[in-house]
Amino acid sequence: MALQDKDRIFTNVYGFQPWNLAAARARGDWDNTKALMERGQDAIIEEIKASGLRGRGGAGFPTGMKWSFMPKESKDGRPSFLVINADESEPGSCKDREIIRHDPHKLIEGALIAGYAMRARAAYIYIRGEYIREAETLFAAVQEAYDAGLIGKNASGSGYDFDVFVHRGAGAYICGEETAMIESLEGKKGQPRLKPPFPAGAGLYGCPTTVNNVESIAVAPTILRRGAAWFSSFGRENNKGTKLFQISGHVNRPCVVEEEMSIPFSELIEKHCGGIRGGKDNLLAVIPGGSSVPLVPAAEIWDAPMDFDGLRALGSGLGTAAVIVMDKSTDIVRAISRLSYFYKHESCGQCTPCREGTGWMWRVMERLRTGDADVEEIDMLFNVTKQVEGHTICALGDAAAWPIQGLIKHFRPEIERRIAENARPELSEAAE
Ligand code: NAI
Ligand code: SF4
Repeated sequence: MALQDKDRIFTNVYGFQPWNLAAARARGDWDNTKALMERGQDAIIEEIKASGLRGRGGAGFPTGMKWSFMPKESKDGRPSFLVINADESEPGSCKDREIIRHDPHKLIEGALIAGYAMRARAAYIYIRGEYIREAETLFAAVQEAYDAGLIGKNASGSGYDFDVFVHRGAGAYICGEETAMIESLEGKKGQPRLKPPFPAGAGLYGCPTTVNNVESIAVAPTILRRGAAWFSSFGRENNKGTKLFQISGHVNRPCVVEEEMSIPFSELIEKHCGGIRGGKDNLLAVIPGGSSVPLVPAAEIWDAPMDFDGLRALGSGLGTAAVIVMDKSTDIVRAISRLSYFYKHESCGQCTPCREGTGWMWRVMERLRTGDADVEEIDMLFNVTKQVEGHTICALGDAAAWPIQGLIKHFRPEIERRIAENARPELSEAAE
């Protein structure tokens, strides 16, 4: 069942209406927020758990469970914090940008409700440095909420004091990793911490902290208003709710669209993007969840359900649901090599397998791209990706390894062809 307009949470994702408070109220935001809070902190967390909401930042950790890790009592008077990850930097991802641009009050109201539920003193929204206009909108929306008494002292008349701070990043991809973000907020160099301890145990300034993605927080008020059963009526077991998909690349109409989880890839593309450029048979491969997940070849993705389990079964993942579509005009080896360069560039350099491995993998990828390599190096590169994967402090190492693994798994003949043609140029001349 495809989503109807009435089922959409983000009704202003294209900005047809203003983002401001008056327009947001007309869309139903900030409608008796006090009553939602009066249900009680534990009841809110239970409702989010029952909804089946899983983190929308890429990892898909159950949101309600994450909130429940926060302490109910303050230890030694230490406050708790909510950090909202708006450092959207995953290549292909652009959904949080649309929320902040056009529906920032959903995020701010969500921050209050989520922060209240987990007994947080304040929320810090860490927004990507390049999102300049979006940060301006967010600052203005937060000010509107303060001026209207919706946040701050006695937020929304609830008797609960809650501040919202907006913090701008400075352009480092790694600051989107939750512990690097916390370090950055503390004024330090953005480098990931070892986990455990997880932020709920020791987060911002050593205090209990939950880090959530923008979309995860922004959907919370609607889930509470419409009910967990409503949200979980979309999608399938373990993959519930609606989701913002961001489709880029070789489709006729790239777009960001809210759809039901588990929608088949073909339906998503045909219904919202006007199909693949040049038709279905022109599809080569898809990176279905942002650059950190392996690509999936055309034949396997076409009927796949777009959700956590469906894409994992194909050796890939839903990630942020940033769907990068590549048709047959794509130089697939070059595309993945470019991603390798990105991860090499963004590695914080803290751990050896990532610092050395990302540069090494990129250099080999470049030689595979031109064919200036030995066939044995394909397996060697694959083995190196396995040495990096799972052996680093944060997921950037995995993210650098997985796209290469996907390429070798599905497009090995293409790599071998380049090597053969480079060794014997007459092969490519004969083919022309
Ligand atoms: P993760 O799986 O390590 O953690 C996910 C969340 O669950 C974290 O908040 C973590 O603290 C929490 N968690 C996990 N296990 C826990 C436990 N045992 N106890 C308490 N809390 C626990 O994944 P991570 O590193 O946070 O995110 C990786 C994903 O982020 C990638 O898969 C990628 O898709 C995505 N990503 C998104 C970007 C974006 O721009 N939105 C940028 C880069 C990556
Ligand atoms: Fe830094 Fe890479 Fe290690 Fe992550 S995996 S901590 S980015 S060096």
